Amino acid sequence: MYLPLLYLGALAQTALSLTPPNYIYPNSTGLRLQHGFETLLIQPFGYDGFRVRAWPFRPPSGNEISFIYDPPLEGYETTAHGTSYSTATTGTTPQTLRNGNMILRTTGWGGEVGGYRLSFSRINDDGSETLLTNEYAPLKSLNPRSYQWPGPGAEFTAEFSFSATPDEQIYGTGTQQDHMVNKKGSVIDLINFNTHIPTPVFVSSKGYAFIWNMPSEGRMEFGPLRTRFTAATTTLVDYVIIAAQDGDYDTLQRRISAVTGRAPTPPDFALGYIQSKLRYENQTEVELLARAFHDRDIPVAMIVIDYQSWAHQGDWALDPRLWPDVSAMSATVKNLTGAEMMASLWPSVADNSVNYAALQAHGLLSATRDGPGTTDSWNGSYIRNYDSTNPAARVFLWRMLKENYYDHGIKNFWIDQADGGALGEAYENNGQSAYIESVPFALPNVLYAAGTQLSVGKLYPWAHQQAIEEGFRNATGSQEGSACPQVSLSRSGFIGSQRFCSMIWSGDTTSVWETLAVQVASGLSAAATGWGWWTVDAGGFEADPTVWWSGNIDTEQFRQLYVRWLQWTTFLPFMRTHGSRACYFQDAYTCANEPWSYGAENTPIIVSYIHLRYQLGSYLKALFNQFHLTGRSIMRPLYMDFGKTDPRIKTLTATNSNFTTQQYLFGPRLLVSPVTLPNVTEWPVYLPLTAEGNATKPWTYWWTNVTYAGGQVVKVPAPVEHIPVFHLGSREELLSGDVF
Ligand SMILES: *[C@@H]1O[C@H](CO)[C@@H](O)[C@H](O)[C@H]1NC(C)=O
Ligand SMILES: *[C@@H]1O[C@H](CO)[C@@H](O)[C@H](O)[C@H]1NC(C)=O
Ligand SMILES: *[C@@H]1O[C@H](CO)[C@@H](O)[C@H](O)[C@H]1NC(C)=O
Ligand SMILES: *[C@@H]1O[C@H](CO)[C@@H](O)[C@H](O)[C@H]1NC(C)=O
Ligand SMILES: *[C@@H]1O[C@H](CO)[C@@H](O)[C@H](O)[C@H]1NC(C)=O
Ligand SMILES: *[C@@H]1O[C@H](CO)[C@@H](O)[C@H](O)[C@H]1NC(C)=O
Ligand SMILES: *[C@@H]1O[C@H](CO)[C@@H](O)[C@H](O)[C@H]1NC(C)=O
Ligand SMILES: *[C@@H]1O[C@H](CO)[C@@H](O)[C@H](O)[C@H]1NC(C)=O
Ligand SMILES: *[C@@H]1O[C@H](CO)[C@@H](O)[C@H](O)[C@H]1NC(C)=O
Repeated sequence: MYLPLLYLGALAQTALSLTPPNYIYPNSTGLRLQHGFETLLIQPFGYDGFRVRAWPFRPPSGNEISFIYDPPLEGYETTAHGTSYSTATTGTTPQTLRNGNMILRTTGWGGEVGGYRLSFSRINDDGSETLLTNEYAPLKSLNPRSYQWPGPGAEFTAEFSFSATPDEQIYGTGTQQDHMVNKKGSVIDLINFNTHIPTPVFVSSKGYAFIWNMPSEGRMEFGPLRTRFTAATTTLVDYVIIAAQDGDYDTLQRRISAVTGRAPTPPDFALGYIQSKLRYENQTEVELLARAFHDRDIPVAMIVIDYQSWAHQGDWALDPRLWPDVSAMSATVKNLTGAEMMASLWPSVADNSVNYAALQAHGLLSATRDGPGTTDSWNGSYIRNYDSTNPAARVFLWRMLKENYYDHGIKNFWIDQADGGALGEAYENNGQSAYIESVPFALPNVLYAAGTQLSVGKLYPWAHQQAIEEGFRNATGSQEGSACPQVSLSRSGFIGSQRFCSMIWSGDTTSVWETLAVQVASGLSAAATGWGWWTVDAGGFEADPTVWWSGNIDTEQFRQLYVRWLQWTTFLPFMRTHGSRACYFQDAYTCANEPWSYGAENTPIIVSYIHLRYQLGSYLKALFNQFHLTGRSIMRPLYMDFGKTDPRIKTLTATNSNFTTQQYLFGPRLLVSPVTLPNVTEWPVYLPLTAEGNATKPWTYWWTNVTYAGGQVVKVPAPVEHIPVFHLGSREELLSGDVF
């Protein structure tokens, strides 16, 4: 079992140290372009990439927040590039720089001679050159690098425009709930909301990746002819653009991760089944739960305690009235099931919390630019968020978590409401009636140690993940990047979040079919953004109030939805159930969400998928190891593997056909197409051509072993106990993890 994995690791490690064949080293350390009041610094970066920084008038302090490694983990040079450059120009003459297969040119405007507009091209394997993008400057239009000064200080708004073509496809951009793998045509606000984690990393079907390396809020626009990125307020514009050969998405992901972060490997236990509900309310209930798993002989990897387990928000401790002996509880859970434990924490601190005064006195809470605090009227308490952007606040938080949980055997943390700002909710008065929620209050302009919500708001969840990461590393004496001792679970993230021992889940979804369908594309966008550690709430988080059965475990309708949703999570990076349920019959304070809570006929189905998850253990480890070593995506949208071998994939992706938004490859060998409609007995699946001509390989249906040729839509039997899954090659090889 282990040999193939070691072999794989050794192979890939060797590959890591190799320079791509025929690699052409950059022929310059950089170009400084003085263009009137504006300065640009353009440097070769990593393999086949450039980093561009731009500022009007005042040079940046050098302390601007960055999410990229300088130097990158692979590629050009091993020392930081900092602000070095070998050529200075005022943009009156064209310049050309080459880094590997990427060419940067500065040109004039229209046919004019000059060198102040940037253009990026790729040298193809056959020696020809392809324009990837250039600054978008049609005749008599807004400057492609446009600045405005809306505030009283030196900070400015920046809008940068790049040319695009209508047939280009755009992937990544973090996650939205839009059923789109191809984001072309989208306008996306760079503001965090629960279930939306807009992140300015995208991959283009033309064969390049783009990283807008700034923590400010703003906007991403993907028009037919123009791609525009806006930073609401900043002191520096900073982006990276990287090329790969046409259709080579593994190389692009490798390059993105070399710049933004390589994922460590997760602890083995985290690959098992994670049990959660809203909510296990006390120690007795958790111990009884562990006993129930033990008595039924159902494997469980982790048991999770949700919110309101504390006496006050921000205590960062379990309420001793409900949890009298935390160490005994975690030992009992371990003894009965082998499971680890995870507990939820919120970043919000109520003024009656034991920690409020100390945090307040030391300036470790966020404030607001206007008004008293980040008020959240949820549950009637006055709260302010701890300031994750302040290193001292991160230390404070971890000290509490260590003393109150970690040292008592609860070592994994769920960082819920991690979005920053208004705690991820769209309305300041969240938790009140729909009528009041709908009033368009301005979003709170929160102040942090690192800056304002507008200027650095996108840093908040990332720094919050970092707090837990630093805690894990400090507690175990391990280094960031090495195998993870524990895991966190975050509702948000940002550029390079994959470097932390932290999974991101798709947020508070509704328990209806359409929401299940939408999650698939969300996960595929997460993958393209570079996040591999992704998961969902199996069954959805909360009832849709307009659907009578939604979330009710005693209805046939929800039971069926739950089984479909849960079986899908077997084929996600992490398999996790969670949610707020309704019920007609209940024996705990809150309705049940265990494998046996969905009717006698469904229990064996649910349990069979939990067992299947464990059978896939070696395969899962191989996928996480590949992701760790080279950034190779775990969830793989079809364009990644078949864009070149199957011409239909391009057209199906262009229109966001369900065959591309609800189907994907899970690792190199499994094609997954979850059922997203009720009462289905068969399900159409598009099977891609895996190679050109008769070199294409057949697909084997997991449940029947019937093989099908690629390049066609097949309808396969899909009774409620079977999720449509196909494999390439032999099942034995797949289960052994010997896959590359
Ligand atoms: C770098 O290489 C490009 C393409 O080969 C060439 O046009 C350019 O003159 C070179 N630039 C420098 C600074 O050597
Ligand atoms: C929420 O409100 C309830 C009822 O007032 C109270 O018992 C509970 O402690 C509060 N929870 C939190 C987390 O503030
Ligand atoms: C675990 O349970 C077994 C028997 O149920 C008991 O003998 C043992 O002492 C327990 N171990 C711990 C660490 O609680
Ligand atoms: C972890 O330890 C390092 C080094 O002592 C320290 O700088 C950092 O603040 C600590 N982080 C946390 C969250 O405790
Ligand atoms: C703990 O929870 C269980 C199940 O919800 C309930 O029956 C019991 O009364 C609770 N015990 C305490 C001490 O709150
Ligand atoms: C695509 O999937 C959604 C959600 O499952 C469904 O509502 C819709 O009918 C499907 N569209 C087509 C064309 O099959
Ligand atoms: C699914 O089947 C059940 C039972 O036959 C039926 O009550 C329900 O209306 C069906 N749902 C849909 C959406 O067709
Ligand atoms: C198909 O396979 C045969 C050998 O089995 C080979 O001779 C032939 O060239 C292949 N055709 C194509 C189009 O690849
Ligand atoms: C399919 O093949 C696998 C071995 O690859 C075997 O374990 C399984 O029982 C077969 N299923 C059916 C329905 O024949």
